[in-house]
Amino acid sequence: MSARILFVCLGNICRSPTAEGVFRQRAAAAGLSLSLIDSAGTASWHVGKAPDARTVKAAAGRGYDLSTLRARQVSVADFNAFDFILAMDEQNLAELQSIQPAQSLAELGLFLDYAEGAVEREVPDPYYGGDQGFQTVLDLIENASDGLIRRLRGIGS
Ligand code: 4NP
Repeated sequence: MSARILFVCLGNICRSPTAEGVFRQRAAAAGLSLSLIDSAGTASWHVGKAPDARTVKAAAGRGYDLSTLRARQVSVADFNAFDFILAMDEQNLAELQSIQPAQSLAELGLFLDYAEGAVEREVPDPYYGGDQGFQTVLDLIENASDGLIRRLRGIGS
């Protein structure tokens, strides 16, 4: 099985593109071959835009290139196109649950539930805060990415 994974936040310009880029790079480095990794926002405000400049800069500082990503809004079709749909926080998870079609087999959850030893369950929205918030987003997402990679290896992805 090759898992198809969608990361979801509110605007798809800060947290979920970070998750997409970080997870893609770390999964590749770990030798995991995945058929589809993508991200989307529950809101439509930033559709078509590159990630927030602060997000791109913080990620580049750790060797992740997010500059080519473009925001899109999550759609009903995503619930059949992905096996895992992982939200950055409870609010976005609730939104996903409210629009999941009855026949969809996609597994919905919080991305940080894959992070080892994390007390946080939500990736805090960095949009209205300072630079430290973007580093915190990266710390949490790197940890959860490694946990998800271990989990996918466990199920033979
Ligand atoms: P994201 O962050 O959900 O991590 O992409 C946000 C981006 C934009 C806004 C809120 C959160 N906004 O209000 O425009």
